[in-house]
Amino acid sequence: MNHLLKLLDLTPEEIIELLNLGDQLKYEQKHGIRHHLLEGQTLGMIFQKASTRTRVSFEVGMSQLGGDALFLSNRDLQIGRGEPVQDTARVLSRYLDGIMIRTFAQQEVDDLAEYGSIPIINGLTDFSHPCQVLADLMTVREHKGRLDGVKMCYIGDGNNMANSLIVGGLKTGMKVSVATPDDYRPDPVVLEFAKGYGSFRLTDNILEAAADADVLFTDVWASMGQEGEAEIRRKAFAGYQINEELLKNAAPDAMVQHCLPAHRGEEISEETFEKHADEIFDEAENRLHAQKAVMVKLMKK
Ligand code: CP
Ligand code: NVA
Repeated sequence: MNHLLKLLDLTPEEIIELLNLGDQLKYEQKHGIRHHLLEGQTLGMIFQKASTRTRVSFEVGMSQLGGDALFLSNRDLQIGRGEPVQDTARVLSRYLDGIMIRTFAQQEVDDLAEYGSIPIINGLTDFSHPCQVLADLMTVREHKGRLDGVKMCYIGDGNNMANSLIVGGLKTGMKVSVATPDDYRPDPVVLEFAKGYGSFRLTDNILEAAADADVLFTDVWASMGQEGEAEIRRKAFAGYQINEELLKNAAPDAMVQHCLPAHRGEEISEETFEKHADEIFDEAENRLHAQKAVMVKLMKK
């Protein structure tokens, strides 16, 4: 494993190895055991979109591992003025030990990996959000004790989160049911991958998807970059909400997850969000631990 570009590239064993390392680093952090596994190394963090969790968890994670992190906004980088990503990759590879990038096109992340000579980590593209889903899988395993056979349901937009949850869930043995409106299905590449699994269901019916679910996921109806479609999307996704009524269909001890930021009253009700807040903020915390595992795996010399 040289990069983390998307979960489709990882074997189930590699995913589990990252989750195990994340658990170990979390335990050690909580027990005051300090590591300097990335001492003297610098991670560049390129952000072409906003972020709270990704930025802070990578920066803190790098600091806890004894290294440094550089926040690089597209407002300041020449990339924002049209310098090709291929050149940016070759230049930054001469200074840095790893790059985390949040951007629009998955191709840009793939190009960084192709032209650079250091590990590249995808911190969200329009296609995928692998770091988030590693944290999600870590959280589900913490709460349910296992992933194999656990039923995941995703309600809402067939976006980057849906794509990565489907791949991550299926690769780790989860049953995955997804409910999206017909015009907002997950990426065809992901659906092609999922076709090979008898444990995958795609429907437009949220009750069907939520039936007996052990964990329910959702995400915003309009992702970053889709702000102009917010009104159309509000209409298209009306009813695609995780709420107390829907949870009656799920397993009695079902957990609820949201990658955040959440829009209460849209994809999740206020009541359900607050009832499951501990699980949701465990998920947010696990970004830190899961990403430390990714950085150690990719960058430790
Ligand atoms: N979930 C997530 O990636 O959050 P940020 O956009 O705040 O980084
Ligand atoms: N689908 C959302 C996830 C945010 C973490 C977005 O891309 O904006």
